[in-house]
Amino acid sequence: MKGLVLSGGKGTRLYPITYTSAKQLVPVANKPVLFRVIEAIHDAGIDDIGIVVGDTAPEIKEAVGDGSRWDVHITYIQQDAPLGLAHAVKVSRDFLGDDRFVMFLGDNVIQGGIANLIRQFEHSEWNSQIVLTRVEHPEQYGVAELRDGRIERLVEKPRQPRSNLALVGIYMFDHHIWEAVDNIAPSWRGELEITDAIQYLVDHQYQVYPYVHEGWWIDTGAPGDMLDANRLVLDELEPYVEGYVDRDSQLSGKVTIEAGAEIINSVIRGPAIIGRDARIVNSYVGPFTAIYHHTIVDCSEIEHSIVLEHTKILHIDQRIEDSLIGRNVEITRSPLKPRAYKMMLGDNSKVGLITNGR
Ligand code: DAU
Repeated sequence: MKGLVLSGGKGTRLYPITYTSAKQLVPVANKPVLFRVIEAIHDAGIDDIGIVVGDTAPEIKEAVGDGSRWDVHITYIQQDAPLGLAHAVKVSRDFLGDDRFVMFLGDNVIQGGIANLIRQFEHSEWNSQIVLTRVEHPEQYGVAELRDGRIERLVEKPRQPRSNLALVGIYMFDHHIWEAVDNIAPSWRGELEITDAIQYLVDHQYQVYPYVHEGWWIDTGAPGDMLDANRLVLDELEPYVEGYVDRDSQLSGKVTIEAGAEIINSVIRGPAIIGRDARIVNSYVGPFTAIYHHTIVDCSEIEHSIVLEHTKILHIDQRIEDSLIGRNVEITRSPLKPRAYKMMLGDNSKVGLITNGR
């Protein structure tokens, strides 16, 4: 089987992570979501992976390279415009040939990986398998209606959803998908929808099986989901300590300390991850916190937060919570008079100041 990862689409500014316009490269628990997708496919025994790229191709190519880091072979497939998921499949025809394949959206993370699903599909006669999960707001996704365990109807982002089963961004196909993508027309939003292609398979009596996923699933493309994604992924990580932890420090729960990091006279309570070459000194880092590489936390307390690379948090006596802090940020106490807040905040920043009741 082959793997196809969709990492095209338009580059948009992602606040507050403005340094990458490829949403698939935003780090969750210190690792870009796209890397997690590649690892999930590799863990399922697939080493021939195509990545569909669009406007952000240079950034993606630079970050991923040729795949040798994961022991996989990567082929980049250029999609000139984001004309839909089925269009992305169409432009990948040369790469996929007549092989069975799994398509994985590059901004999705799923609990437990996909190894079992792939094994099931690889040795079956099925023409397609799709992954569904129950969601609170089905109108934001492709929605499936089932009858007697079989798929009856699929609708892309229906105004009035008739079920709460959303299509998760993981799909498996055999070569009959070519007939389907060649026979569908663009939707109202001008895209060739993969939901329509799958509906074509269903309508033409091909065997399409639904799998209802019971664990968590996150489409990190949705705004505001980063802290949630971080929390869920951190809880799953197998912890390891490669950095230095001095005798006065205490680690409890699932704590990962990446190589080159230093923990000095501090308490780290997991699930948490401290990135490469970061320094945590005389501080407390609480559950569900990801500190990315080369960041310094000194004489401060932080919990349930994401801090990106090369940031400094120094001498902050109030605990920082539920925060998303970008890269190269400095949060310090000013020793200068007059006592005043001095800030240099980027666009769309949000800061909650403690006012001592005054
Ligand atoms: O996340 C699950 C949902 O993904 C499904 O429930 C929907 O049925 C499916 O259509 C899709 O909906 P989205 O609106 O979330 O798709 P989005 O435009 O965010 O694209 C998903 C990924 O595919 C993203 O990483 C960008 C990439 N992409 C998208 C388009 C439209 C491409 O590579 N090429 C494209 O033409």
